[in-house]
Amino acid sequence: MTDALRGRDYIMTQEWSNDEIDLALQTAGDLKEKFHKGIPHRLLADKTIFLLFFDKSTRTRNSFEAGITQLGGHAHFIDSSTSQIAHGESPKDTGIILSSYGHGIAIRHDLIPGEGNSYMREVAQHASKPVINMQCDIDHPCQTLADLMTIREKYGTNLRGLKIAVAWTYAPSYAKPMSVPQGLIMLMTRFGLDVTLAHPPEYTLMSNTMQIARENAQKSGIKFNVVDNLEDAFRDADIVYPKSWGIESLFKQPEKALELSKRYKSWICDEKLMSITKKNSIYMHCLPADRGNEVTDAVIDGPHSVVYQEAENRLHTAKAIMALTM
Ligand code: CP
Repeated sequence: MTDALRGRDYIMTQEWSNDEIDLALQTAGDLKEKFHKGIPHRLLADKTIFLLFFDKSTRTRNSFEAGITQLGGHAHFIDSSTSQIAHGESPKDTGIILSSYGHGIAIRHDLIPGEGNSYMREVAQHASKPVINMQCDIDHPCQTLADLMTIREKYGTNLRGLKIAVAWTYAPSYAKPMSVPQGLIMLMTRFGLDVTLAHPPEYTLMSNTMQIARENAQKSGIKFNVVDNLEDAFRDADIVYPKSWGIESLFKQPEKALELSKRYKSWICDEKLMSITKKNSIYMHCLPADRGNEVTDAVIDGPHSVVYQEAENRLHTAKAIMALTM
């Protein structure tokens, strides 16, 4: 295992070069093969990672916990509400102390715009060990790395000329974080894909992430378009990634946000919409999905869907990030 990324934080994909992202994906591929063949790969024997959650999780928590076990180490799960963070302990003290006990700190803090990314950067500033972003208000770099791995498994490493649609869809369950679509437009614009973003007018993404995506697209020589309807995004797309997200200014007013979202109940990914994509297109979703609202069962359980492969790749990419940085 190379030491090229040892000790590095992984807070936004934008802070890792294309070569570093490639290295992470190559490592994830190797670890996936070893996992499936039952070949031991105890690259982090006796090492400890602290998993600090300010929000719920299924895939992220369990991919990191299972992953560190398979790497020969151990995870401590920390619920922020049952730690001294709930009494106001600072990110500085948390970072210094946890990093003195182990070898890495991973944090999910994604629900309130303006808070999570700043929090984990403050932890990272004071921690002596790497900090990994398990989803913040701005980016979900563990998810988008698994997404890129899944896209490459389908289409290979040369993605030039392929179109990905990142689209808002309706969900009544809760105002989902903005970090997945933001992470997608920032990462996919670097790797050859033409990116089309679609959303109703109220669901704009954070302006700094849009700016990064525009700059990435210009540097890569690919298209980055924004449209106001699903049809224009889905037409001739090779990859579709429809999901819900909240309105930046309404995360502290969940009832108002959910009421407003009802205007757009017709924004659902169904078979009719999939029929205007390319014949062999893939349907992606980070999960959990609001079945019957964001997407119909026929699509998520249908021939285009790669959601379980994508979810499995969360394990292999989480392991790659830990193995390379810790
Ligand atoms: N996609 C994702 O991050 O899933 P969880 O919220 O279950 O971790």
